[in-house]
Amino acid sequence: MVGDGHLYSFVCLFEKPDLMETVLSGIRSTGNLHLGNYFGAVANFVKMQEDYNCYFFVADLHSLTTYPKPADLHSNIKAVLAEYLAAGIDPEQSTLYIQSDVPEISQLYLLLNMNAYIGELERTTTFKDKIRTQPDNVNAGLLTYPVLMAADIIIHNAHKVPVGKDQEQNLEMTRKFAKRFNSMYSVEYFNMPEPFNFGKDLLKVPGLDGQGKMGKTAGNGIYLVDEPEAIRKKVMRAVTDAGPTTENQEMAEPIKNLFALMGIVSSPDTITHFKEQYNTCQIRYGDLKKQLAEDMIVFTTPIREKIKEIYADDAYIRKAVTMGKEKARASASKTLKEVREIIGYKPF
Ligand code: TRP
Repeated sequence: MVGDGHLYSFVCLFEKPDLMETVLSGIRSTGNLHLGNYFGAVANFVKMQEDYNCYFFVADLHSLTTYPKPADLHSNIKAVLAEYLAAGIDPEQSTLYIQSDVPEISQLYLLLNMNAYIGELERTTTFKDKIRTQPDNVNAGLLTYPVLMAADIIIHNAHKVPVGKDQEQNLEMTRKFAKRFNSMYSVEYFNMPEPFNFGKDLLKVPGLDGQGKMGKTAGNGIYLVDEPEAIRKKVMRAVTDAGPTTENQEMAEPIKNLFALMGIVSSPDTITHFKEQYNTCQIRYGDLKKQLAEDMIVFTTPIREKIKEIYADDAYIRKAVTMGKEKARASASKTLKEVREIIGYKPF
């Protein structure tokens, strides 16, 4: 809180964008959100809405690098929108928009591309990963992905960008491009956006395949839109081990993961019960999984229903994206105009 509390909240009513730092993040429209995305990203976005001037968007242009089918593109975008809204992003309080609805982003991307070097783009980890995982489709959009991401961020001059560890290098590139622009034109125009890290507060959500975090790999993740039967099936198939043979035995990774998931969705009593069972070597993993599945269903059902409800409400989604587009374009066109002036464009 800055200065006098009363004055602050009074001014805040009228001038929220000027007093608050800007937070921005995007999610590619390439599939539904799983519990890992929910706790790692969206649930935190929701909490930031009051304290920051927030921009959240659907990164649909970024999704084109992997060629979605024309028949799927629109529904992919709609799915992310419905999930953002169902999770609690308030389209009045935050600016929620579709990346391709804001053509200024693509224009800034073009301008920034002139100052991005092939060598540095080729050295980006995410690009090198793509060369390995999709050698048949190493397109220029993948190479310049960090430039588009930089345009996404600096078009609103964001201060803080909540992203996962895997995106930190891309954010470093954003700072590099912003700094290069500033020094090339001897201006202090762009901020240096920092990763927004929740550190210890960030819930770790492991996957069901016994190793690492929840991701999009088949069978490893529970999606917010998963029906109860799908959740039961996935949880019952989760990796375990042969069971403890001595009392208070150290848990293997897959078992720790199941308990971590319980930590998110189950009651403390339930967790204590199964821990005791484990420590006394009486545990039956089938019982634990059954309980975990039911608790996950209880947890995800309200949000799944909300997603479905919003997904079916075209008028509400249209209203939200229209408002988002207007707010985002107002901010983006101001930046683009100033950038063009800095570069040297003048009206005739
Ligand atoms: N690259 C991000 C991801 O794959 C998505 C993204 C695109 C993004 N543009 C962004 C995230 C700007 C934060 C800010 O997860």
